[in-house]
Amino acid sequence: MGNCCCIKGSAKCANASTPFESKVVSKSGGGGGASNNNNFSSKSKAAAAAEVPPAAPPASSLKSFSMGDLRAATKNFGSSSYLGEGGFGCVYKGWIDEATFAPTKPGAASGRMVAIKKLKKESFQGHKEWLAEVTYLGQLHHENLVKLVGYCSDSDSNKLLVYEYMLRGSLENHLFRRGTHPLTWASRIAVAADVARGLAFLHARDVIFRDLKSSNVLLDGAHRAKLSDFGLARAGPTAGRSHVSTRVVGTRGYAAPEYVATGHLSAKSDVYGFGVLLLELMTGRRALDESRGPAAELLVDWARPFLTGERRRKQQVMRVMDTRLGGQYPKRQAQEMAELAMRCLQNDPKNRPTMADDVLPCLLLLQQANTKSSSLATTTMEVPSPRLVSSTTPVHRRHRKI
Ligand SMILES: Nc1ncnc2c1ncn2[C@@H]1O[C@H](COP(=O)(O)OP(=O)(O)O)[C@@H](O)[C@H]1O
Ligand SMILES: [Mg+2]
Repeated sequence: MGNCCCIKGSAKCANASTPFESKVVSKSGGGGGASNNNNFSSKSKAAAAAEVPPAAPPASSLKSFSMGDLRAATKNFGSSSYLGEGGFGCVYKGWIDEATFAPTKPGAASGRMVAIKKLKKESFQGHKEWLAEVTYLGQLHHENLVKLVGYCSDSDSNKLLVYEYMLRGSLENHLFRRGTHPLTWASRIAVAADVARGLAFLHARDVIFRDLKSSNVLLDGAHRAKLSDFGLARAGPTAGRSHVSTRVVGTRGYAAPEYVATGHLSAKSDVYGFGVLLLELMTGRRALDESRGPAAELLVDWARPFLTGERRRKQQVMRVMDTRLGGQYPKRQAQEMAELAMRCLQNDPKNRPTMADDVLPCLLLLQQANTKSSSLATTTMEVPSPRLVSSTTPVHRRHRKI
């Protein structure tokens, strides 16, 4: 879930998933955290008001849990239930009855696993994010969006969210965590197509996701990828407008340049983030990595010189590909994915493709081509079914706030 911290022009992040919130849309980078707050509020109070998600009551399809239920479901939020931590708070594994949703013993025949996010007291924007999550996920249902089972709102500080449990954890872990079996080329294309489907669904309903990143793409037991964390989602522009004006929140490394510079947000901002995600899938490199040095810490800056222009792409695409793929992908498909990524990463949002009409069809074609080439190949193109990260491995916090 997006966390909110200040960003300055020169702010540095530890890695791609470091979330930010810009109180000041500042290229010069002046001011410290506190003064940034002030600058922001004088600049765009209206924009801040528009951030609050529509105040719909929690959808009736959602279960309202008591704090006692959730304590019982997670062994009192004990360390054995701990899964990880994000900006919103800690995430715990829990067990509830499939039919009644009452807490059950781990492994009970009638039980199902859930992931329970508990708002941490220090979370700057916790309530708003909690409400956005309940509002959007209470109403939007799609096979590529993580299902929200219910929520708990005992008091201002006891805010929790209960999700379907995603057995294979985050895409971030699969791409970057040491000791995991590398994702095959086929599964990378499939993940990209699933994410594109999820975004296309949201954009068709004028919802902008705003926090696309590999840690917000979760994989279920059937390897299906789903978008999670709607805390920063918001309604898109209406009546022929090209964008909404808003504070800059999201994650450095994935945020579209026009959004960071002006606060102008549109579905095309998600398309840019998707382009970054495609680069991560191709290269196995993080969207933001300081160790690459200032000129290349952004993956986009690092990859662009290799991938701009058809000729250069043809010659150089192999140089950016994830070595963990072991060369097990058709070069032509890598070029096509690189071309799609570069189109998503166009500086002018008008030149970026749309998810439904352009990106998703391209990926489906790529998927088809890959199936054909795999079945025609005399040697196996793909590493056989990946042994993915154990879901029981606690996911430790890897993100440094700025
Ligand atoms: N529905 C879920 N099922 C299984 N694991 C989850 C689920 N939601 C979150 N997690 C795990 O908990 C960790 C923290 O998640 P989150 O609060 O969304 O932070 P972030 O998105 O910054 O990683 C993630 O690393 C993720 O692997
Ligand atoms: Mg998340």
